Amino acid sequence: MIRHMLRDDDLTHAEQLEVLDLAARLKRDPFAARPLENGKTVAVIFDKTSTRTRISFAVGVSDMGGYPLLMDSQSSQLGGKESIEDTSKVMSRMVETIVWRTFAQANVEEMAAHASVPVINALTDDFHPCQILADLQTIREQKGELRGLTATYLGDAANNMGHSYLLGFATAGMNIRVACPEGYQPREDIVADAKRIAATTGGSVEIFTDASASVQGADVIITDTWVSMGQESEKAERVATFGEYRVTGELMAQAKSDAIFMHCLPAYREYEVAPEVIDGPQSVVWDEAENRIHAQKALMVWLLAKSQAA
Ligand code: CP
Ligand code: NVA
Repeated sequence: MIRHMLRDDDLTHAEQLEVLDLAARLKRDPFAARPLENGKTVAVIFDKTSTRTRISFAVGVSDMGGYPLLMDSQSSQLGGKESIEDTSKVMSRMVETIVWRTFAQANVEEMAAHASVPVINALTDDFHPCQILADLQTIREQKGELRGLTATYLGDAANNMGHSYLLGFATAGMNIRVACPEGYQPREDIVADAKRIAATTGGSVEIFTDASASVQGADVIITDTWVSMGQESEKAERVATFGEYRVTGELMAQAKSDAIFMHCLPAYREYEVAPEVIDGPQSVVWDEAENRIHAQKALMVWLLAKSQAA
């Protein structure tokens, strides 16, 4: 069976730990795993803009001995010109792995349904599982064991990051809290999935509207932009709605004294996070960004190995 990474619960608790252990090893020894030796190709397709994802996949594939083919839908036949099914069948004959940042989650699912190589979701409107692996790697580095830690994500809990934190952190056995205004709550089916997973890993899931209540005793405080890619026309309304979820020094002070601050970036210091927090001593955002490379390399190595073993 070909293994894909389309949403965070595509890995079990044990599998997620295998990937995270490998990510830690690859951080210590970047050239330890080279399944793409001799320039085997990984296609990395972008339908939305990117800095970290683009660079980290390019560097990661190169570290693994391969060639990163960076593409976009405008300059290829994707994007309504050729079907995802036909594209998937053609690409499967030519590349080792397909990585895709796109809008609808259904797009990556369709790609995977017809692929004979692993497909990795590099962000959709619904999930960003590569980011969550990097975040978990960063939290492990800071705190050791993931199980039993409490993380609070504040802001737009209906976006890709909100959904991925619910699934990915529940898989890790963490207590995941989200704090958001009415109307920006996570999808009910995803909350239900996260709760079902948490019941098997010893984690928990809680949804708050009160920002202050949500951060009490938390080990990790996280936020994301209030205006995701594709939502630019809603900016004024969102900025007016999310104000009380801004992560300030005052809010951080209500979490544990050794709490860390995380943000997937890009960050907007005038909105979701105050400069004193993101640029302060509790922030681990630069480690978090670097870990995209190590976590994604581990994911690619793991998916290729599992897909070949099948
Ligand atoms: N965090 C993240 O995915 O960043 P980019 O949009 O720059 O890739
Ligand atoms: N929620 C953000 C994440 C960016 C990495 C977006 O989708 O724009």
